[in-house]
Amino acid sequence: MYKTIEASDISYFTTLLGDRCMTDLQIRKEYGHDETEDFVFPADVVLKPETVEEVSFIMKYAYEHSIVVTPSGARTGLSGGALPIHGGIALSMERFNKILSIDEKNHQVITEPGVITEVLQNAVKEKGLFYPPDPASKGSCFIGGNVSENSGGPKAVKYGVTKDYVLNLEVVLPNGEIIWTGANVIKNATGYNLTQLITGSEGTLAIITKIVLRLIPHPTQNLLMLVPFFDAQKACEAVAAIFRAGITPSGLEFMERDALVYTQKFTHDESVPVAENHAAHLLIEVDGFDSDILMQECERIMSVLEDFETDEILFAESQAQKDGLWKLRRKAAEAVKSQSIYKEEDTVVPRFELPQLLYHVKRIGHQYGFQSVCYGHAGDGNLHINILKGNLTDAQWENELPKAIRELFEEVVKLGGTISGEHGIGLVQKQYMDIAFKEVTLNLMREIKKVFDPKGILNPGKIFN
Ligand code: LAC
Ligand code: ZN
Repeated sequence: MYKTIEASDISYFTTLLGDRCMTDLQIRKEYGHDETEDFVFPADVVLKPETVEEVSFIMKYAYEHSIVVTPSGARTGLSGGALPIHGGIALSMERFNKILSIDEKNHQVITEPGVITEVLQNAVKEKGLFYPPDPASKGSCFIGGNVSENSGGPKAVKYGVTKDYVLNLEVVLPNGEIIWTGANVIKNATGYNLTQLITGSEGTLAIITKIVLRLIPHPTQNLLMLVPFFDAQKACEAVAAIFRAGITPSGLEFMERDALVYTQKFTHDESVPVAENHAAHLLIEVDGFDSDILMQECERIMSVLEDFETDEILFAESQAQKDGLWKLRRKAAEAVKSQSIYKEEDTVVPRFELPQLLYHVKRIGHQYGFQSVCYGHAGDGNLHINILKGNLTDAQWENELPKAIRELFEEVVKLGGTISGEHGIGLVQKQYMDIAFKEVTLNLMREIKKVFDPKGILNPGKIFN
């Protein structure tokens, strides 16, 4: 199996990296967890390379000695992709923190993977350019982690997810070879699409060392409204109706009552009035370059909403109010998780099926006796379902809940959806992969993994066993 790290290995890495080779227990623990539940799997050693050549040397050595390597970004992941579950090396990419060039002529950026997503967004915005994918953790997550997990976020509904912006990648293969996967072009019909294969591969195929992203002009205007509904089902039904009226909002987020109430308490911001009879809210944003057109779009949205029993709509009047509303939505995950031990699901269905999905969540919750708090990217049909342990016994939590999740995922697949929209499979969802794919498909994926990583040293035990 995998070799345990020995003194001779540490001495090799120390010669290569100096004090960027770390064995202190506290640091190994720090790199042993991410934002997934309360898991901690300390690595045997934490390495912080700074150059692609150093990554290549590390991988060559690890490959030769069959040492497990787990790539590590900002560790904000929600499926355990960066957890070093077999020990070995945690390969932190945090020193790869430079934006290498912003190409205004071609609307592209070349960046290292350890750049914080929001830092990248702000840097290109200064040139009037827009990199839209914006996961809730955008202020702390790394762009490399976003590529590895194919992250989404609220803007995906209009602008797509990370994969829709990745043009080309420099990666180090498990055997230490350095390659580029494609070319810096919008169109590319040249061979298999390795760029997109590595995007979303959760650090199981290669280590990303450079990323070329496509950019678009930054919209100059946006309008934001918060709509209270008396019935959560109706809120979900309204979602597809808005698109059918010919509007593509730049954000269309759902928050169940509990999600909003918990988040207001958590952030000490109770400025949004939540009445007794408010069951859910939609946060709806439109953006573009012409404020008259945006006003017309809002009017059309309001006329669609007339059929769905809403209370008074709140229009954000200032940038501060917009920021406040978005903050409430972005903090929902943290707020709900602060309530109880939890598990978070990341289901996604075609958007018209969203009311059905919510119905099954509540039905199965009722049957198994768990509380669920739902919020998410309704415009994408992407519902985050937080299941709270609450009063469930340990036995129910360990033995019964996986059955409930399985039932739920089976309904999701029947509705034409799948088991993760943007958080990835990583460690915590791999036991359910058989619901999403037939064995023959899973075997194809396993064979692809073997072609890249015949010794199985790179992030083993993720996506599948
Ligand atoms: C969000 C994260 C959990 O949407 O994906 O808040
Ligand atoms: Zn999300």
